[in-house]
Amino acid sequence: MKTRITELFGIRHPILLSGMSWISVPEMVAAVSNAGGLGILATGVYSTTQTRAAVRRIRELTDKPFAANVTLYFPGAHENARVLLEEKVPVINISMGKGDKIAAECHAYGGKVIGTVVNVKHAKAAEAWADALLVTGHEAAAHGGDVTTLVLVPAIADAVKIPVIAAGGFADGRGLAAALALGAEGIALGTRLMMTQDSPINGACKALALDKGIADTVYTTRFDGQPCRILVSKGSKKAIRRGLDLPRAFVNSRQIAKMMGMPWGKLAIGVTASGWKNVKQLSFLANAFKAFQVSTLEGDVDKGVLPLGQVVGLIHDLPTVAEVLDRIVHEVEGARDRLDAALS
Ligand SMILES: Cc1cc2nc3c(=O)[nH]c(=O)nc-3n(C[C@H](O)[C@H](O)[C@H](O)COP(=O)(O)O)c2cc1C
Repeated sequence: MKTRITELFGIRHPILLSGMSWISVPEMVAAVSNAGGLGILATGVYSTTQTRAAVRRIRELTDKPFAANVTLYFPGAHENARVLLEEKVPVINISMGKGDKIAAECHAYGGKVIGTVVNVKHAKAAEAWADALLVTGHEAAAHGGDVTTLVLVPAIADAVKIPVIAAGGFADGRGLAAALALGAEGIALGTRLMMTQDSPINGACKALALDKGIADTVYTTRFDGQPCRILVSKGSKKAIRRGLDLPRAFVNSRQIAKMMGMPWGKLAIGVTASGWKNVKQLSFLANAFKAFQVSTLEGDVDKGVLPLGQVVGLIHDLPTVAEVLDRIVHEVEGARDRLDAALS
């Protein structure tokens, strides 16, 4: 397969691993890149030391192109971006913020930049600094847009000149064929690649998710303060009922600061000084990080909260990462044959 995405990144298949905290770790990134796609490392919950070590570990595991994500509204994101630039990571994926300065430095060493967007306005703005856009529709796990992939992808493909990667709702070759037909030039997979043998998510989550259907997730702003899709579970129902919980955030933010190698006092003073909006957002985030950690690492969705896409209802097995990519590449041929037959 050849699209502007395969050409831009020097990869065989236009298939990317989405940046998923605690899941898109070096081994997963390398597995996707070695299988001919582009793995994206998630740095959201890493300290700068962990980010540097993760990038170096990927380079031990693969000599293929790879990417790393920075989610700009997470604490520590700009410091992690600095590490990615110092390490000259081949592709930097910037989400939830303006990436022009990071992009300029990345371009200076010959790197490429993917901007993640969820609406047409942000897509047009990101076109000024990104080489490609990752467009995340409503079906997606975690932070997809208000509009479904089916409508959002062609709207953005029409609005910009740079290539578009579609995300949210993709699990197989039919999905890739559909994305290409809509004007995208690649797809990014989250939930599907989380549901693989290689994925480090707790086995209890994989077993649970195998039984879930397309309607077993919910899209809410009451979990991490942003529109976010999560599995319906005891843990997520409790989190939604609670909404913003400042005393809990006070406790969780200490643990999160420690995990990310940040002095808590400095973080607390900085956030408080930056106004109520930031206090509110970071309090939501502190509780969300903790709840994600409890589900993905400990496998407890009664206490924790698991981001999950609607596409979980189309997933019925746990293949390896390499098998998923291989299948998609073969299935897309079947989809083309069906289209040819229907159109002839
Ligand atoms: C378990 C899990 C963890 C995720 N963590 C993050 C995250 O930390 N930051 C983020 O921006 N997106 C996160 N995502 C969302 C993915 O990056 C991606 O946008 C989404 O999974 C694509 O939709 P799909 O699941 O339908 O493939 C996560 C997704 C899953 C399934």
